[in-house]
Amino acid sequence: MGFKFQWLFLGLTLQSLIVAGEYFKPFNVSYDGTAMIIDGKRRMLISGGIHYPRATPEMWTDLISKSKDGGVDVIETYVFWNGHEPVRGQYNFEGRYDIVKFVKQVGSSGLYLFLRIGPYVCAEWNFGGFPVWLRDIPGIEFRTDNTPFKEEMQRFVKKIVDLMREESLFSWQGGPIIMLQIENEYGNIESSYGPRGKDYMRWAAKMAVGLGAGVPWVMCKQVDAPEYTIDTCNAYYCDGFKPNTNKKPKIWTENWDGWYTSWGDRVPHRPAEDIAFAVARFFQRGGSFQNYYMYFGGTNFGRTAGGPNYITSYDYDAPIDEYGLLRQPKWGHLKDLHAAIKLCEPALVTDHSPQYIKLGPKQEAHVYRDNGSKCAAFLANIDEHNSATVKFLNQAYTLPPWSVSILSDCRNTAFNTAKIGAQTSIKTVGFDSNSHLNDRASLRLIAPYEGSYISRTWNFVKEPIGVWSDKNFTNKGILEHLKVTKDQSDYLWYTTRIYISVEDILFWEENQVSPVVSIDSMRDLVYIFVNDQFEGSAKGKWIKVRQPVNLIQGYNDITLLSQTLGLQNYGAFLEKDGAGFRGQIKLTGCKNGDINLTQSTWTYQVGLKGESLKIYDIDENGSTEWSELPPDAVATRFSWYKTYFDVSSGLDPVALDLSSMGKGQVWVNGHHIGRYWTLNAPKDGCQTCDYRGAYDSNKCVTNCGDPTQSWYHIPRSWLHASENLLVIFEETEKNPFEISIKSRFTETICAQVLENHYPPLHGWSHPMTSNQTISLKNTVPEMHLQCDAGNTISSIKFASYGTPQGSCQNFSRGNCHAPNSFSVVSQACIGKQSCSVGISNGVFGEDPCRGIVKTLSVQLGCSPSSITTSSLVK
Ligand SMILES: *[C@@H]1O[C@H](CO)[C@@H](O)[C@H](O)[C@H]1NC(C)=O
Ligand SMILES: *[C@@H]1O[C@H](CO)[C@@H](O)[C@H](O)[C@H]1NC(C)=O
Ligand SMILES: *[C@@H]1O[C@H](CO)[C@@H](O)[C@H](O)[C@H]1NC(C)=O
Ligand SMILES: *[C@@H]1O[C@H](CO)[C@@H](O)[C@H](O)[C@H]1NC(C)=O
Ligand SMILES: *[C@@H]1O[C@H](CO)[C@@H](O)[C@H](O)[C@H]1NC(C)=O
Ligand SMILES: *[C@@H]1O[C@H](CO)[C@@H](O)[C@H](O)[C@H]1NC(C)=O
Ligand SMILES: *[C@@H]1O[C@H](CO)[C@@H](O)[C@H](O)[C@H]1NC(C)=O
Repeated sequence: MGFKFQWLFLGLTLQSLIVAGEYFKPFNVSYDGTAMIIDGKRRMLISGGIHYPRATPEMWTDLISKSKDGGVDVIETYVFWNGHEPVRGQYNFEGRYDIVKFVKQVGSSGLYLFLRIGPYVCAEWNFGGFPVWLRDIPGIEFRTDNTPFKEEMQRFVKKIVDLMREESLFSWQGGPIIMLQIENEYGNIESSYGPRGKDYMRWAAKMAVGLGAGVPWVMCKQVDAPEYTIDTCNAYYCDGFKPNTNKKPKIWTENWDGWYTSWGDRVPHRPAEDIAFAVARFFQRGGSFQNYYMYFGGTNFGRTAGGPNYITSYDYDAPIDEYGLLRQPKWGHLKDLHAAIKLCEPALVTDHSPQYIKLGPKQEAHVYRDNGSKCAAFLANIDEHNSATVKFLNQAYTLPPWSVSILSDCRNTAFNTAKIGAQTSIKTVGFDSNSHLNDRASLRLIAPYEGSYISRTWNFVKEPIGVWSDKNFTNKGILEHLKVTKDQSDYLWYTTRIYISVEDILFWEENQVSPVVSIDSMRDLVYIFVNDQFEGSAKGKWIKVRQPVNLIQGYNDITLLSQTLGLQNYGAFLEKDGAGFRGQIKLTGCKNGDINLTQSTWTYQVGLKGESLKIYDIDENGSTEWSELPPDAVATRFSWYKTYFDVSSGLDPVALDLSSMGKGQVWVNGHHIGRYWTLNAPKDGCQTCDYRGAYDSNKCVTNCGDPTQSWYHIPRSWLHASENLLVIFEETEKNPFEISIKSRFTETICAQVLENHYPPLHGWSHPMTSNQTISLKNTVPEMHLQCDAGNTISSIKFASYGTPQGSCQNFSRGNCHAPNSFSVVSQACIGKQSCSVGISNGVFGEDPCRGIVKTLSVQLGCSPSSITTSSLVK
């Protein structure tokens, strides 16, 4: 089947008149009820979320360029207050927090930027982005009509707006910033604050707009947003959303294309067909700006994970994975979708009231026309189970269940959300077995055992249990955890001493019972020790703890190690939440009744000795007495381990496999990678995933019965070629011998495309950098295949044009097979990083079976292009 129309698409072009320091010719941004108006033109915009501190600056350029290549027009990010102002008045705009550099990189790529200042951002980020010192400001109440809070909030928001203006980063200055956000999902909690909530919301809007940033401000999930800000939608689906006046465009600030993950949970995935469906429905029903939350999720490095209990990976099942590699087929399928939407843009921005046609009980069309020849139609089948054949403008269309067909000329299907033409990439995390052939396998710890990659040489030092320095202090009674730690560490030691009489001991022996340490309420984790012996632990959020303990006659030291696992990032009254213990702590089951420890004298020590000595630092100066860990060492609790390792050069991302460990934190060359925890997800609930029907985060999960997270990303820029320092703090009884360093790469790629698939939108390139000429006349569908950077297509495991059966890694030939399938694919692809193959009889030299719709299925292998000696740090 041929395509009988020709499309000449004239998108925005980057002007050659760019003045030094400017990224665009200065332009204004406004909006109406249809769309954002960029430099006088209404636009349909695709935005992708990338949080700058969840990657390293060395990764930013590549992430932005992969976003652009995927058809993204706008990069969206939150601003992370606690990263920028760790101490009140002391700002940090360096390294991963160099927001100016990030915004400039977006600008120099020719993309726009949507800056969500908040400064409350939620984001599954520690304390929702609030600096912990904010709690200590007298009289403060967060996110309500409270003067101390409003002063601090205004100061920070102004600081960011001023910084962006000084750096000329707003659109009217020739910069990329087209839109800002104040507050964040405040509508969810506004009613908790009564009338003061609404007063605060109005104040926030007015304050923001008063800063003179000169671009529109949005307030997401804020149905009562004032008329001079835009209320927007955050959800899995936003096609039914309507802003609170018809003068505002329909904006989707968070399209959740995946979900975040807690330790011990299954890992959520959102199918590409369903996200594409949600996005197509949004534009079908008048949407104009859609942001993927996230386009790249990245990593919660160090102690930046929010919580409680969120894992270190913030992969989010985003189109670009945690390691910066394309997640296929999601990335490619959405790229095709974006191209199709761009083809419809001229009609979408012109027609304010599309024609609605009911095509069937669960089928409908929206038709957009401009005054001239442009016409675009969206045909939706919202039936979750059945496909439907509908008649539209006298032509029949078959719509798969839960899908939208985009007819960019009201006639030919440019895209259907349920028909994936993009490749599937199967990534491997591991060593190459051919270590001598393949340099990537030299990612291994020093002094490996023969034939394995396990380090022999580890040093260790024990972390003392309880108080370890004269920075300890005593207090009568239980202090709230964050008041003491100021979140400088996850850990806080509490120790008290009690006297146990011989009568108590006899009483317990006679009755065969144990005394119990009872804590009314606790979060997030507590380890309980008596006389330096571990008795037990508990985890949860404001749970009651009852821990039987062994006591001796005489004085006993009861030591509690309270631990936070990411501070609360969501909800009202965050400043009141705190951490550690609430209520009373008692020793129950004694002969003469309970011993009340609530008013006892407790000795406190913040953090670990190893943290204080910075024993994970490269210039740690010998103040720690490390000992070599014998291979047969009995593992002990609360130990620090260290070793050195080499990595190969090359581009493949590097990961630490900690699945052999228990729980703790890890550093590489002094960089804090994050918390780790080998907690398994429940065994059940990972049934096959069906894209059809409304998505929720429990629907398509993986890792049942396996650790939620096993691999921890080590950014390449944090590594040297050799002698990398790896330091681990382990809280459980695990030795580090089986820790390994691995690389992550796409090993296998598969694709399966029908000869009547939609046209090759993959050829489309971003309108901001090139003039568009998409000619669909006489074109045939194409299959596009791509290995990761630094890798090339090295083998063909399967290729058949005809009626092949099965799916990726399980293809087999059908009755119909073009004999030269293998050689055509081989010629087009072997030795290349990427290739495309047309899908038609012409390409394969013959029609292998007349009258039957044919498919091309292929499976290829990727390998490193060559043993590269290029510098390690990209
Ligand atoms: C943007 O709008 C302002 C205020 O209306 C105007 O002065 C300025 O010239 C406009 N800039 C551009 C680049 O159109
Ligand atoms: C369409 O054409 C009519 C009549 O020529 C004109 O009044 C109207 O403004 C046009 N609409 C658009 C969106 O160009
Ligand atoms: C705790 O602090 C006190 C007073 O500063 C000091 O005398 C004592 O040695 C400290 N304890 C430890 C274990 O360092
Ligand atoms: C324990 O001591 C606290 C603080 O003095 C007090 O409020 C509480 O009532 C006591 N509990 C019991 C069971 O006596
Ligand atoms: C180096 O040693 C000194 C004294 O022993 C100590 O105070 C300092 O903290 C150490 N530096 C680091 C980075 O551990
Ligand atoms: C786009 O086309 C115009 C007019 O044909 C030309 O002047 C301009 O250089 C082209 N821009 C790019 C980026 O190719
Ligand atoms: C591969 O396909 C065959 C038949 O098509 C099927 O029986 C088998 O379960 C499949 N194996 C996998 C791993 O999908």
